[in-house]
This record gives sequence, structure tokens and C-alpha cells, in this order.
Amino acid sequence: MKRVITYGTFDLLHYGHINLLRRAKALGDYLIVALSTDEFNSEQKGKKCYFNYEQRKELLESVRYVDLVIPETCWEQKRTDMKEYHVDVFVIGEDWKGKFDYLKDEGVEVVYLPRTPEISTTQIKEDLYTHSKH
Ligand code: CTP
Repeated sequence: MKRVITYGTFDLLHYGHINLLRRAKALGDYLIVALSTDEFNSEQKGKKCYFNYEQRKELLESVRYVDLVIPETCWEQKRTDMKEYHVDVFVIGEDWKGKFDYLKDEGVEVVYLPRTPEISTTQIKEDLYTHSKH
């Protein structure tokens, strides 16, 4: 069984996320999502989530492509995750291109997928905010 892992915040789950998850699952048989915790988002990524960790986790668990959701609490956990979860493929959007090539040292295939154009959580928040002003 080929095991795939991806990392992210997945706040206000949108079709760009679903596209990413579908293509990630297609790279193997079992998809793990390491979901950024609220603390990791606010303290390390500078992101304030609209949905909290448990809410984001429940949404992801209801997506047919996702087999397991685990917490992402720090940048450094990736190497140990690869071993602990017997990962074959690490995949993430190409906004992170080149950033995680070091995981190849763990014998993992590293894949950067093209982002779905014109959608992001930040964009949704900005559009709703702008819209509410008119
Ligand atoms: N992603 C994607 N296409 C999009 C938006 C996101 O492929 N249009 C991917 C990212 O590349 C990443 C994963 O979805 O691998 C989770 O991204 P995340 O940062 O949680 O979502 P964004 O919508 O980009 O959120 P933000 O605007 O807060 O950065």
C-alpha cells in the first residue's frame, strides 16, 4: 500500500483544497493530512483561522480522499512523520516548491502540485470583507 502525506491549514475548505486532496490521493492508496493546529498557525505561520482545529479536522475527515488526519504542531516534525507513518510520497502545492526537497533523504518521493487558480482562503476572506462594505 502506497502511503501519501500532505500538510496544511485547510481553513474554510474550498474547491482548491479538494482538488489538491484528490490529486494527492491519486498518487497512492492511503492519504494522511497533517493539519496545522491553531497554535502552530498563529505562532509560526501567522494565520488566524476562522474554523478551529477540531472543526477543520471534522471537515477533512468527511472528504472521501482523506484517510487520516494528524496534527501538525511544528516545522520540524516532517522527518519523524515520514518514518512513523511509513510515508512513500510527500505532496504539497507548488507555493512550497523546493522547500521540502530535504525529505528525499528519508527515501520519500517529493511532489509539488500546481495550485488551482484564483482561489484561496485569504482571497475568500478578502472578497467577503470587501463585499460587506458595499
Ligand atoms: N492549494 C491549492 N490550490 C489553491 C489553494 C490551496 O492547491 N487554490 C493547496 C496548497 O498549495 C496547499 C493546500 O492546498 O498544499 C493547503 O493550502 P492552505 O494554505 O491551507 O490554503 P490556502 O487557500 O492557500 O490558504 P491561505 O490563503 O490562508 O494561504
